[in-house]
Amino acid sequence: MRILLTGSSGWLGQWLAPRLVALGHDVIGIDPVPGAATTILGSIADRSLVRQAIGDHRIEAIIHGGALHKPNIETHDRQAFLDVNVTGTFNLLEESVAQGVSRFVFTSTTSLMVSRDVRAATADEAVWMTEDFVPMPRNIYGVTKLAAEHLCRLTHELHGLPVIILRTARFFPEIDDMAHEIRQSGPNTKANELLFRRLTAADAAEAHVAALAKAPEIGFDVFIAVAKTPFARSDARELMHNAPAVVARYFPDYPSIYGKLGWTMFDRIDRVYDSARLEQRLGFRCATDFRTTLDTLARGEMPAYLTTSA
Ligand SMILES: NC(=O)c1ccc[n+]([C@@H]2O[C@H](COP(=O)([O-])OP(=O)(O)OC[C@H]3O[C@@H](n4cnc5c(N)ncnc54)[C@H](O)[C@@H]3O)[C@@H](O)[C@H]2O)c1
Repeated sequence: MRILLTGSSGWLGQWLAPRLVALGHDVIGIDPVPGAATTILGSIADRSLVRQAIGDHRIEAIIHGGALHKPNIETHDRQAFLDVNVTGTFNLLEESVAQGVSRFVFTSTTSLMVSRDVRAATADEAVWMTEDFVPMPRNIYGVTKLAAEHLCRLTHELHGLPVIILRTARFFPEIDDMAHEIRQSGPNTKANELLFRRLTAADAAEAHVAALAKAPEIGFDVFIAVAKTPFARSDARELMHNAPAVVARYFPDYPSIYGKLGWTMFDRIDRVYDSARLEQRLGFRCATDFRTTLDTLARGEMPAYLTTSA
């Protein structure tokens, strides 16, 4: 297929573009920043550029990963978020319909799924996050991503364009700020997060490949894309009060593997993103999870996805 990939110079784009090419697709990348996979230097907020990109390259499918996202809150104003994330998505959807694009995959984010309880750290148990959770975005990033999701849904309802939305969990290489009081090293934190809120960049790319293939069959749906959690809902209370005990129950070998590395588990886990629908309806499961990571660590190897930095 001839695929327009937005955000082709970004972290996801760097993983996804070569993967799509390896599968035999023609990839036309659009990004205002130059990059190996970027064919068109420019912004999706520019409707005429989007129209031309789709028309000139006879685009058959769009993977829309380009965005201003959380780190850009420090560098861009809210208007820029609206222009790129809302108007940019609208431009892509409208031109998809006008020019007969057959399918559309939109990269959204689990960061618009944070409950008041999680934010205030007042919950007595871990919040179990499924696609049924009603998002309440906490910043302009989440608000514009949610607006873009609604534009996707509306376009599907009005015109039948097949659209898959992937609410992707974190796969960024740098270490996050504030979610936990992080004493652990970067690789330690990322390994812990694979239990409930992270996936590798390779798996993020692969989830997009799966969504691309299934979009026409599914029509429209929203999926949380995250590594499969080992936890059950019945663990929710204990996760909030004694996460290491819960993890040790599922992975009796983790304390010794972690011990050798001087690593620790988070004291509490306040939410779990559930990939059940991704697995059941999209037929996709991340190749890497906490178990495969432990197995690699047990062999004395350090997985690259835990150490890569941007
Ligand atoms: N990295 C994560 O952990 C994570 C988690 C959840 C969702 N996401 C989503 O995944 C997608 C890709 O994120 P990433 O981590 O690769 O971020 P990134 O910043 O590395 O890549 C985003 C790309 O979008 C490009 N872009 C910005 N404005 C644009 C415009 N006007 N037109 C076209 N492209 C534009 C940027 O130049 C950049 O290359 C984003 O939609 C983001 O919201 C990322």
